[in-house]
Amino acid sequence: MLTAFPEKDIASLISALTEWFAINQRQLPWRKQYSPYEVWISEVMLQQTQMERGTAYYSRWMTRFPAVEDVASASEAEILNYWEGLGYYRRARMLHEAAKTIVRLHHGRIPCTREQLLSLPGLGEYTAAAILGIAYEQDVVTVDANVERVFSRILDIDIPVKKKPAAQLIRREAQKLLPHGQARIYNQALMELGALICKKRPVCSNCPI
Ligand code: ADE
Repeated sequence: MLTAFPEKDIASLISALTEWFAINQRQLPWRKQYSPYEVWISEVMLQQTQMERGTAYYSRWMTRFPAVEDVASASEAEILNYWEGLGYYRRARMLHEAAKTIVRLHHGRIPCTREQLLSLPGLGEYTAAAILGIAYEQDVVTVDANVERVFSRILDIDIPVKKKPAAQLIRREAQKLLPHGQARIYNQALMELGALICKKRPVCSNCPI
């Protein structure tokens, strides 16, 4: 197992990755503005949900609840109605609670610190990282299963990615490669590479890396 990615290759890897993303990314509704609210809702919906299904629910949700205040003022019954079919209804209930807290304590603005995000009902490390890195463009990596797969192959890791040493190494290397101020594109490009090319059955001949 390699322990680090060679310094000299980092710049070319990042540019290959981001150029590939610019051309090949899927047009997903939250990728127009990348507002914190949109990133939050999309990430919660995509947990345990296929992209196509998640996107359809997301669009319907945004038509009815275009802002966090609309979620906060809705009844729980209506929130659950818009979630119906996605499963894991605790996610919807927590999202509703978090929206009410954001309106009450943060004037309707999604917090931009890890501590404040983690103090919201149901909001965990992954979603906090996605909001900070993808929406607020802070230098924070978003490591989901796609990103784990990409790095386990780049780094030739031969232990399961969910095991602590592998997970720590992946997080460290992903953070080291993150180009300052470009977390949005970097995180999204890695996820997209994992989803479209570096799949369980990878299409290595099309890989920009
Ligand atoms: N899977 C989970 N979050 C995603 C995102 N923001 N873009 C693409 N795939 C994802």
